[in-house]
Amino acid sequence: RPRVLSGIQPTSDSMHLGNYLGATRQWAAMQDEFDSFFFIADLHAITVPHDPKQLRERCRRSAAQLLAAGVDPERSTIFLQSHVPAHAQAGWVMQCLTGFGEARRMTQFKDKTAKQGENTASVGLLTYPMLMAADILLYRPQYVPVGEDQRQHLELTRDLGQRFNSRYKKTFRLPEPYILKETAKIFDLQEPTAKMSKSSSSPTGIIELLDDPKVSAKKIRSAVTDSETEIRFDEENKPGVSNLLRIYSALTGDSVDSLVDKYAGQGYGALKGDLADVLVDWVTPFRDRTFELLEHPTELDQILRAGAERANAIADRTLADIYDRVGFVPPL
Ligand code: TYM
Repeated sequence: RPRVLSGIQPTSDSMHLGNYLGATRQWAAMQDEFDSFFFIADLHAITVPHDPKQLRERCRRSAAQLLAAGVDPERSTIFLQSHVPAHAQAGWVMQCLTGFGEARRMTQFKDKTAKQGENTASVGLLTYPMLMAADILLYRPQYVPVGEDQRQHLELTRDLGQRFNSRYKKTFRLPEPYILKETAKIFDLQEPTAKMSKSSSSPTGIIELLDDPKVSAKKIRSAVTDSETEIRFDEENKPGVSNLLRIYSALTGDSVDSLVDKYAGQGYGALKGDLADVLVDWVTPFRDRTFELLEHPTELDQILRAGAERANAIADRTLADIYDRVGFVPPL
């Protein structure tokens, strides 16, 4: 079976709706067709200041949420990045293949240092995309299911893979991003031209899946729309309404067109109220399941241990090829 691989950072207590619709939902949907590897990117999580105790907690919470989202440890390999040392080791090789200017031009680095300046950012924030390239290339996946915001990282991954292949010897398969148009970018409910993001300025703009569902329902009902009344899909002129339609469509499977028909002549209140109900119906069992799983941390740890074993077996083999090809003398 062709392989898929993807990762999520454990940088908040809860996944948000963008993570779920843009990524983890696809992971669950792909696991039957593909040999699947999904990991929690804890190494990436320390590129910004963090609290160690919280990081540990968030890794378990992330694992529980992946399971609640339908990623099944029987059908997928689920692991923590730090349990597979080859990621950091191959990451170093990728850093040495990357130009300083090339790294600095990555839009995420530019965005994240725009306010504070480069001097206070960690070097890890700069080299983050090279670690991500290593994460991916080690497994030689065909597809990497992610949201639109990861596209540039995937392009760099392909560039570095290609560069390594041509400089040394063909070693890597060049992976393709797997980005579903409909859910590639879920927008902030308060600022519907910005993506929904953990670092968003206002907490009312993001739906955190482990929040009290009543709070999430309220956020939907108070989502920013526009001063017209007509419900229609028009991302340019009606970003708020269009975002709600996309979310509604993704959660129910109803097409955006059919929703537009359904709400013809009705106000935004009707759309928001119904979407709030749809969300609550979906998120309540997701949340219950997550908390239930968190009551059994040893079982979660076992799943992660088994996943790491499978991941290490593959990653170590690729790392041996990488080390050999760059000219490291193998240990006796
Ligand atoms: P992270 O943790 O920021 O996000 C996890 C996934 O959620 C997607 N996503 C969104 N999709 C649609 N709309 C949104 N508003 C939205 N916000 C987030 C992201 O695109 C991502 O797919 N660098 C990665 C983690 C990573 C990784 C990897 C991914 C590390 N190594 C190797 C793939 C392969 C990140 O920070 O994702």
